[in-house]
Amino acid sequence: SATLREDYSPPDWLVPEIALDFSLDPARTLVRARMTVVRHEAHDEPLRLDGEGLKLLEVRRNGEKLDDGDWMLDDERLTIPLTGSEATVETLVEILPEKNSQLMGLYASGGILCTQCEAEGFRRITFFPDRPDVLTRYSVRMEADRKRFPVLLSNGDCVESGDGENGAHWARWEDPWPKPCYLFALVAGDLSANRDTFVTRSGKEVALAIWVREADLPKTSHAMQALKDSMAWDEHVYGREYDLSQFNIVAVSDFNFGAMENKSLNIFNSRYILADAETATDADFEAIAGVVAHEYFHNWSGNRVTCRDWFQLSLKEGFTVFRDQQFSADQGSAAVARIGDVRMLRAAQFPEDAGPLAHPVRPESYIEISNFYTATVYNKGAELIRMMHAMLGPHDFRKGADLYFERHDGTAATCEDFVTAMEDASGTDLGQFRLWYSQSGTPKVTAKLDYEAEDASAVLTLSQTVPATPGQPEKKPMAIPLKTALLGERSGRPIVAEHLVMLTDNEQEIVFEGLREPPVLSINRDFTAPVAMDSEKDPATLAFLSAHDDDPFARYEAMQQLMVETIIDAVSGRPVDHDPVIEAVRQTLTDPDLDKAFIAEAVLLPSESFVGDQMLIVEPEAIHRAREALRDDLGETLAEDWRAAYAASSGNAYTYNPAATGLRRLRAVALGYVAASGLDEAPQLATDQFESADNMTDRQAALAVLANSEWPERTGALEQFYDRYRNDALVLDKWFMAQALSTREDTLASVEALSRHPDFSIDNPNRLRSLVGAFGSNQRAFHAASGHGYRFLADFILKADAINPQTAARLLPPLGKWRRFDEERGAMMRAELERILAGPNLSKDVFEQASKSLG
Ligand code: ARG
Ligand code: ZN
Repeated sequence: SATLREDYSPPDWLVPEIALDFSLDPARTLVRARMTVVRHEAHDEPLRLDGEGLKLLEVRRNGEKLDDGDWMLDDERLTIPLTGSEATVETLVEILPEKNSQLMGLYASGGILCTQCEAEGFRRITFFPDRPDVLTRYSVRMEADRKRFPVLLSNGDCVESGDGENGAHWARWEDPWPKPCYLFALVAGDLSANRDTFVTRSGKEVALAIWVREADLPKTSHAMQALKDSMAWDEHVYGREYDLSQFNIVAVSDFNFGAMENKSLNIFNSRYILADAETATDADFEAIAGVVAHEYFHNWSGNRVTCRDWFQLSLKEGFTVFRDQQFSADQGSAAVARIGDVRMLRAAQFPEDAGPLAHPVRPESYIEISNFYTATVYNKGAELIRMMHAMLGPHDFRKGADLYFERHDGTAATCEDFVTAMEDASGTDLGQFRLWYSQSGTPKVTAKLDYEAEDASAVLTLSQTVPATPGQPEKKPMAIPLKTALLGERSGRPIVAEHLVMLTDNEQEIVFEGLREPPVLSINRDFTAPVAMDSEKDPATLAFLSAHDDDPFARYEAMQQLMVETIIDAVSGRPVDHDPVIEAVRQTLTDPDLDKAFIAEAVLLPSESFVGDQMLIVEPEAIHRAREALRDDLGETLAEDWRAAYAASSGNAYTYNPAATGLRRLRAVALGYVAASGLDEAPQLATDQFESADNMTDRQAALAVLANSEWPERTGALEQFYDRYRNDALVLDKWFMAQALSTREDTLASVEALSRHPDFSIDNPNRLRSLVGAFGSNQRAFHAASGHGYRFLADFILKADAINPQTAARLLPPLGKWRRFDEERGAMMRAELERILAGPNLSKDVFEQASKSLG
């Protein structure tokens, strides 16, 4: 029962208006919906309304109550025959928010009633054509017990409120902007607001509020600042102004994803709102600003212009991720932000592209759309927008964005519409570029530079292949933009300035002339294209680039490549020479001109999974050993430099700004290497930092080092951390995660024990992800030769599926990597996938992921 992109047809009936009336009670909520429906073009189809898990109590047509035989109801929809071109249809349904463990539709979280409708949750609230190309004006009345639910929120503005009977009260909200039902939201609860205002550039005052439990109010100031910064940034960079007089954000602790951009009523996973120095790390602060910006930016890229169908999801998500990345780059170091984007892309998206769940940025089919909220749609989608930005340049890109918003405002658009707007505004032909939307798989690009000393020239030979992926055996060559420069081997300076090279054929040659000295190639600078680049550089050249490349990303990249190759040499039993890495790290670490945050990123070893992803057959134990050996060698050989870097980045009282976060990042990385050095003082240093830290960044960094260690201090630190934060769910998540990510040999056993800990809960997605999700990403522990890691994960997927299919399905991808491991591991992973598929009452979500993973 797959849905296909090519099957799209416009809706038979439009719904210009809806009036919703909620009688709210967690145990039993009544929803009355009165909608105006209008026939869309000529047809004889009845009205079909999606509905799932609803108890239908009443149906009316043009005010008249219908008998049972006048409509048809099955598991998925309600069908009502209609004559004429317009009608009023009214339904009354009963829903049970308290029993809603899927967290889709209307559900209860810690005493708060809230909604999540994207992608297809609205049908769990009322009968409706639940598709994004039906745009409707909403009027929402809700009534609830005043004591338990003093705050009642929905989209738009509150236009009326009053008292009801028996201690109830009510409010009516109206949203003037027509919207798809996935953007509907409602919240009722005992909440307090951090209030502020923002004045738009045309002088309209917007009332801002972040709603949380009263005790959490002090943790909302960072999110509020991020919101105001985002509003100003979107005006400044994209010319986009906010369009209502209120903007509300609510934080809840049970949430399937990060956050949701419901029109003027964003609902957030509390982890992307709540922060203070004591409980949140710098990474948390950054993620909060990024997600607040992301959801705010959706007001234009998502809400004012929405998606025609869910195959177009990247239209709003790819573009909005790109916008939030640009925003984050503007807040601090752009180079470090870019390194973070690429790290994320490589950790989550490249493996997706290389595995059984590979799909294009604009997928062709799905069984369950929730499974397509992926790194491919989001992050690779953002890379596509970034490539257009690079090809058009910022000026024409902005013209394209303006044209896109102008043409499609108030409508449901497609990815094609976006590309066409870019093309029309700039005059750039994006014909071949469109393949990026339809072809899956990470292109592999090789680059070879041949220097002819006699005539002072060089030939750059570029070639590309796009690997076969499920359903796509043959690929066409893509249009690949590569920012390229040549550096002089003697001077270390650019001798051919950076420019954009377009690789469009399978193979291409580019000639450079007038080279004053032997050149070194610097290519895919700033990671202009999301490709796997092979430029066959020897360790000396990589070390040279890691010291001299004037593009910070390329510099980081050269170092990473040098590290990866060194580790892979060791794994493959080739003679190992750590010296080039050690020397390159020493140079970067001691370079006084470099930004501290950049140094920290550059000297960090690639993760075990990233190394595994570069191998045909992953050898988890050998990778672990080779990486640890390199780490220990780096620690020992550069012990004094690490110690000095540690001292130089210590002793500052906590502040939050780019310079301070850079220092803390370097301090954490240095502490890790001091621990690897085997210095006697290492345990004391880590313990001191753990105990005396005045912020969570330093404390968590020390905890991670201790959690990875064999030191006797480890147990005490974990106990202390637990005792101190046992009542703070978000911090306790960190405690579970530090242990699930531990590089120690006994991690599998300790994760099994933690899954029986009284504070572990399978119902709360954050807690489940912090233990089971994190464990699945721990290559060494998950791939333990016993296969018990696979069994553990599969057990949890089955258990979680009965409660929350979306979250269960998102735990599955690590098992899909079975082709990449040796036969024994592969067979055990497959066996677990088979066992999952044989599970009782399997959801569509898990069925799709497990069956596709078996291939
Ligand atoms: N649109 C939300 C965001 O990216 C994510 C919603 C995901 N929900 C889902 N059921 N897949 O900001
Ligand atoms: Zn989004």
